[in-house]
Amino acid sequence: MTATGSLKVVVIGGTGLIGSKVVSMLGEHGHQAIAASPATGVNTVTGEGVTEVLTGVDVVVDVSNSPSFDAGPAMDFFTTATGNLLTAAESAGVSHYVALSVVGTDRLLASGYFRAKQAQETLIGDSGIPFSIVHATQFFEFVGRIADSATDGDTIRISSALCQLIAANEVATAVARTAVGQPVGGVREVAGPDQFPLDEWVRVELRAHDDTRRVVTDPQAPYFGVVLDDYTLLPGDDALAFSTRYPDWLANRVATAAR
Ligand SMILES: NC(=O)c1ccc[n+]([C@@H]2O[C@H](COP(=O)([O-])OP(=O)(O)OC[C@H]3O[C@@H](n4cnc5c(N)ncnc54)[C@H](OP(=O)(O)O)[C@@H]3O)[C@@H](O)[C@H]2O)c1
Repeated sequence: MTATGSLKVVVIGGTGLIGSKVVSMLGEHGHQAIAASPATGVNTVTGEGVTEVLTGVDVVVDVSNSPSFDAGPAMDFFTTATGNLLTAAESAGVSHYVALSVVGTDRLLASGYFRAKQAQETLIGDSGIPFSIVHATQFFEFVGRIADSATDGDTIRISSALCQLIAANEVATAVARTAVGQPVGGVREVAGPDQFPLDEWVRVELRAHDDTRRVVTDPQAPYFGVVLDDYTLLPGDDALAFSTRYPDWLANRVATAAR
């Protein structure tokens, strides 16, 4: 992490998968990181606790997520929460606003969830507050949910579109580094080291868990409502590629679970 002196950073969604790691990483590097979420009395949708927690803060990091991926609730969540956060951040004189979004969001707009993420990004870009948006590919931790979302009975019908998944730990590293760096005023893409077809990621995950569901490769099978082409989920050539490989990460997770 490139330290620029000790910063006070509020991590919205700081109790979540990415947020809890970002809070730890920033703290380990000498920054004052505050986890903010409904569990800590900060609700960005109702506005409860938002003004208070942003007082005296240098950087806001938003790694929260909508409790529902359905179109209407996700749009309500990201537009209301982001609007409340930006208003409070401007009043507090925050010097850097960082948010986590998804590689290919602008190619996934057939999905209500991704339209909501796009709306979040647009609000941030239009706010006038110096900002950085980190675009990550899908997390290794998310493969199970991808499989479940494509399951019908005992069958998983899934696309063979290429993806370059990444460990959540490395997403958190990228977010934390971005938070202590200069605002990029745009998008920074991060990904893992390997590209494989989506159906292959799912097969490897199922094998690791002795999951007997049948995987059927179907190029037309929608991914959260979107029919993918080979490049929809891939980052661009300038993406920062991290090094953790999925089989190594899986082996470690299975070994940890067995302890
Ligand atoms: N999954 C992927 O593969 C992927 C890929 C790229 C980017 N992303 C993005 O990564 C971000 C974080 O994902 P994640 O998996 O780390 O999320 P997560 O583990 O589900 O955590 C969500 C966090 O949001 C908080 N939250 C929910 N409602 C809130 C509210 N009203 N006010 C304030 N905080 C609220 C939760 O707080 P409580 O604990 O108090 O409920 C929790 O801390 C998302 O924006 C997602 O779009 C995901």
